[in-house]
Amino acid sequence: MEHLQDTILLNNGVRMPGLGLGVYKVDDGQNVYDIVKAAIEHGYRSIDTASFYGNEAGVGRAIKDSGIPRNELFITSKVWNDQQGYESTKQAFQSSLNQLELEYLDLYLIHWPIRDQFQETWRAMESIYRTGKIRAIGVSNFHIHHLKKLKETAKYVPAINQVEFHPHLTQRALRDYCKKEGIQLEAWSPLKRGQLLDEPLINELAKKHGKSAAQIILRWDIQHGVITIPKTTHIGRMKEIADIFHFQLSTEEMAQLDALNCDDRSGSNPEKYDKK
Ligand SMILES: NC(=O)c1ccc[n+]([C@@H]2O[C@H](COP(=O)([O-])OP(=O)(O)OC[C@H]3O[C@@H](n4cnc5c(N)ncnc54)[C@H](OP(=O)(O)O)[C@@H]3O)[C@@H](O)[C@H]2O)c1
Repeated sequence: MEHLQDTILLNNGVRMPGLGLGVYKVDDGQNVYDIVKAAIEHGYRSIDTASFYGNEAGVGRAIKDSGIPRNELFITSKVWNDQQGYESTKQAFQSSLNQLELEYLDLYLIHWPIRDQFQETWRAMESIYRTGKIRAIGVSNFHIHHLKKLKETAKYVPAINQVEFHPHLTQRALRDYCKKEGIQLEAWSPLKRGQLLDEPLINELAKKHGKSAAQIILRWDIQHGVITIPKTTHIGRMKEIADIFHFQLSTEEMAQLDALNCDDRSGSNPEKYDKK
């Protein structure tokens, strides 16, 4: 990847930008509208929202007012936990489309692997996918055992598994499994919600490359071939995040960053949602 708008090929032939903007915890209305509109103006083409974030309406308005043709944008949303099941997923999808005022989504994800429900949820997503109203379907927060269970009944392999991924949670086994199965990994909380920005090694590498700590982490993501969707509400940071394509971390530096892994999460462990 050499540019903010460069894409990665998913297993169904759809191309997704390798870097996008996440909008979790950005308030609906003017806040999210301004952020998404500014992101698109600054060259971002991929926006990650979810029904749970409660800001799809503002995201949709910004998309509409951006002046960028719909087919040049890549919009992701997700079915929330209490919307899972066959019929309710179909309703949730329609509700997301209505909120966003869009005709179709580029990517729709199962937000968390809700026990005894995600297979039916997936069946609904496959059915919507066949209508052409979603260009790619995927999952989020799936461990290997969830993906194996899904495989027992799925007709389509998920295009994406969006999981927490950063130098403190490198997801080696999951990454290898997804690669083997043709599932593209996507990183949420790539900056560990800001908690990684003081890490000494990351700051040392930042100084060496004349980059910021955030840029080092996001560069590590793209060199691992992992799609990522950092969140920021600051335009200056948006520009900074987009400027990660003209330097290279060496193999040794990548290994040093990998070695920071301590399997530590900033968000929930998906197993929490796998209980009766
Ligand atoms: N599928 C899931 O279950 C799931 C879960 C969580 C998140 N996500 C998605 O992933 C996206 C990103 O994750 P996240 O929002 O949890 O965390 P994140 O992207 O790791 O971190 C966001 C935090 O880092 C700060 N930040 C951003 N750029 C920075 C920079 N250049 N320098 C210093 N600080 C910077 C932001 O502050 P400012 O806003 O003040 O700049 C914000 O506080 C979400 O927005 C959402 O779309 C998905």
